[in-house]
Amino acid sequence: MKVVTVVGARPQFIKASVVSAALAEAGCREVLVHTGQHYDANMSDVFFEELGIPRPAYQLGVGSGTHGRQTGEMLIKIEDVILEEKPRIVLVYGDTNSTLAGALAASKMHIPVAHVEAGLRSYNRRMPEEQNRVLTDHISRWLFCPTQTAVENLKKEGLTRGVCRSGDVMLDSVLHFLEVAKELPGKSDIFDTLGIIPGEYRLATLHRAETTECGLSAIRQIFAAFEQLPEKVVLPIHPRTRALAQEAIAEGGFDNILLIDPVGYLEMLLLTSSAKQVLTDSGGLQKEAWFLHVPCVTLRGETEWVETLRGGWNVLAKLETEDIVQKALSTVPDESVRAEAPFGDGHAAQAIARELTQGEISF
Ligand code: UD1
Ligand code: UDP
Repeated sequence: MKVVTVVGARPQFIKASVVSAALAEAGCREVLVHTGQHYDANMSDVFFEELGIPRPAYQLGVGSGTHGRQTGEMLIKIEDVILEEKPRIVLVYGDTNSTLAGALAASKMHIPVAHVEAGLRSYNRRMPEEQNRVLTDHISRWLFCPTQTAVENLKKEGLTRGVCRSGDVMLDSVLHFLEVAKELPGKSDIFDTLGIIPGEYRLATLHRAETTECGLSAIRQIFAAFEQLPEKVVLPIHPRTRALAQEAIAEGGFDNILLIDPVGYLEMLLLTSSAKQVLTDSGGLQKEAWFLHVPCVTLRGETEWVETLRGGWNVLAKLETEDIVQKALSTVPDESVRAEAPFGDGHAAQAIARELTQGEISF
């Protein structure tokens, strides 16, 4: 059975790493298409090298640009790939423009779409991701949900056919690659290089359009909060936010922030698992904080990953200095909620591969 998989952004490489391995084990022939949405070496190549993801058979080279241009160019090029490859299934992940372009191209050509991370909702239609995920879910044949909440969200929209609660593939990848990272020779180099001590720093990331659209004023509010925290804040900066962050730092007064380039996934897992706290607007990192028992402050008005809010492990903060400081200093997570396993058992990738190869959903 031939599957065309469309990826393009950092979190998709991480998710694909575990699913691609499971598909290969299940005897699928996978043709990997990289849209080029993320293209810097530290946003793309590093993940293929570290995580053993097969080299993409197609590199479409569609990076940057407005939403319409980016999605449109991807759509045209993915259509050509599908015509050439004639796959049985097109597989997409998450909620980026690459996700929507892959799903739309396939759906228009009557190729069934499998959507991994289906059913997530923020109920904020201003987010490009919310538009991408709603549209993708409604044209997908397989809806692989990471959580029961996602299943319920789909039900509210009348989507019940093809829905499978697979668990979260990011839990699979954390469990697998944290062990790999710990075995790395010189694994503590990252801490020495950065001059930080495990357990004695906070880790932050910032890249949401909602955050950067507010411009320098929002970044200043966030940085002013980081400045008031007792431990150093390590901030591997996404290229979308780099210029704003550098401008804020150049203004001076933000000595508590350690601004660094994006790191590979293995280093990121080491940094996350040893952090005192995570502060982020990232979807993936909120969950990783939960998986690794690290308290999280989410710098957004809402979260799709509502399970992480249980027991105070994740709290939402407005993009205002005072609110961020107050939330960051007052989180006392409740250990008793950890008995629950809302994201599955760490074998989501195998469940997805099994469903695609032997499941009962008809073509
Ligand atoms: C995209 C996704 C977002 C996801 C994020 C993961 C959409 C609409 N957004 O956001 O859901 O959370 O990826 O990281 O699909 N850039 C570079 N080098 C790169 C990549 C990006 O310089 O390798 C810069 C460019 O200026 C680019 C900007 O970042 O225009 C934004 O990149 P883009 O892929 O459009 O959106 P992300 O913010 O990365
Ligand atoms: N990540 C990484 N290096 C970094 C920052 C993040 O490997 O410098 C990983 C992080 O651990 C998580 C994923 O990238 O697995 C999250 O991606 P991102 O925040 O870009 O997107 P989102 O999850 O919000 O869509």
